[in-house]
Amino acid sequence: MPTYGGDEVNALVLDIGSAYTRAGFAGEDLPKAYFPSHIGYVETDMEVTETADDPSKGAGASPAASDGDVAMGDRAATRKERQYFCDTEGGAWRAGMEIGGPMEDGVVKDWDIYEKIWEYAFKTRLRVRAEEHPVIVSEAAWNTSEKRAKLVELAFEKFQCPAFFVCKTPVLAAFGTGRHTGLVVDIGGESASACAVYEGYCLTKTIRRQALGGEQLTAHILSQLKAEFNYEPTPLFDIKSKTPTDIQRLPAVARRNRAGVTDSYLSAMRHRLTLEFKESACEILERPFAKSYAESKPHKPFEFPDGFNASFSAMRYALPEALFNPKDYYLGPGAGSLVGVHELALRSVVASDIDLRPHLLNSVVLAGGSSLFPGFADRMSLALQEAIPGSRLKLYCPTSAIERKVTAWLGGSILGSLGTFHQLWISRAEYDEHGASIVDKRCL
Ligand SMILES: Nc1ncnc2c1ncn2[C@@H]1O[C@H](COP(=O)(O)OP(=O)(O)OP(=O)(O)O)[C@@H](O)[C@H]1O
Ligand SMILES: [Mg+2]
Repeated sequence: MPTYGGDEVNALVLDIGSAYTRAGFAGEDLPKAYFPSHIGYVETDMEVTETADDPSKGAGASPAASDGDVAMGDRAATRKERQYFCDTEGGAWRAGMEIGGPMEDGVVKDWDIYEKIWEYAFKTRLRVRAEEHPVIVSEAAWNTSEKRAKLVELAFEKFQCPAFFVCKTPVLAAFGTGRHTGLVVDIGGESASACAVYEGYCLTKTIRRQALGGEQLTAHILSQLKAEFNYEPTPLFDIKSKTPTDIQRLPAVARRNRAGVTDSYLSAMRHRLTLEFKESACEILERPFAKSYAESKPHKPFEFPDGFNASFSAMRYALPEALFNPKDYYLGPGAGSLVGVHELALRSVVASDIDLRPHLLNSVVLAGGSSLFPGFADRMSLALQEAIPGSRLKLYCPTSAIERKVTAWLGGSILGSLGTFHQLWISRAEYDEHGASIVDKRCL
């Protein structure tokens, strides 16, 4: 366990993904907290006074203005103030509440939401003071230098961390399965990616990624339910009462028709409702989808909370087929330019040095929640084997579903519990001396 100021302290490990956040203590087997990264916020207009010499500062910044004494040239203005709610997992509803996530294309887009997630994870869920623990955070392999610098500033300036380290997700996922070298294929929330990791370093030129992860798949499922059955799931917050309906009949629900439901809230709740269907009814065939074969497989009955129920046959295999054959089975944006996840993996292998390729194929790490569809690993294995016959292929992934959802976090937990971790981290003294740019030298 690393020591800080003479005391042994656990590092905090934070893996904020585009869909879920995992937070916990280094050295533990599982994160203490696992919650959606999309959080609620209500925006209200705040009356502020913009001073003549600094329009970016509001009333609070000017002593004169805070006394209600508006100086010459100052003017009244309104500013949007957000109140955040990180407790939306249970679908708590508030009038006018929007739901938003911190990431776009795998990197931080909304720093306010990102910061709120840190605060919520540390203060409310882990009940710790970040200023007393070294912190390890994950980042996408394609994160930019500017965003990394901002991350370091957040850690040292806002949260006063004593030490900080940021590590690329594929490296952490490899560590999470006990490997230092391998090809990491991560099918997560809003993206799918493949990347070679060599001796604990991410080989940037081998990164292949695309915007087709679990969230786009959920949107695709919603659109297919609409196309096939003219059905749109009714979110729980909107169900007042329901009566049982026959199979494939539209649900008979009395709605609450609450005022102030925003589009983002409605869409997020519909997505969350569809997760259970996606995660329990959908499967991937071991071979490319063929309708007659899929129909010969067991059907699965599924009832949505609003009472809509059907027996799903070929459809439950056709939906996740989008991951392996997006051109034919995915109807979302940019489908024409997407490739199957096995193809992403192959392109990443081909982009690596020829001597390394056998080692990568011998160590393919599957990570990310969307790799959990039953049949995913078998299909991946077969597709890669067919593409490179004769190769010695070996797939690694944690056996338990829970661990597969937190593989990268687990890697952070292992990294943070190494006795040598303090040689890696950026200390506050180093940050004070070199500034945020030290991150590009230290965290490779
Ligand atoms: N059993 C399951 N079957 C299919 N999909 C699943 C299963 N469990 C979780 N998922 C999906 O996995 C996705 C989230 O994956 P993950 O937690 O790896 O993403 P993330 O780390 O938040 O995002 P990213 O790393 O891509 O930014 C969600 O869309 C979720 O629906
Ligand atoms: Mg992830």
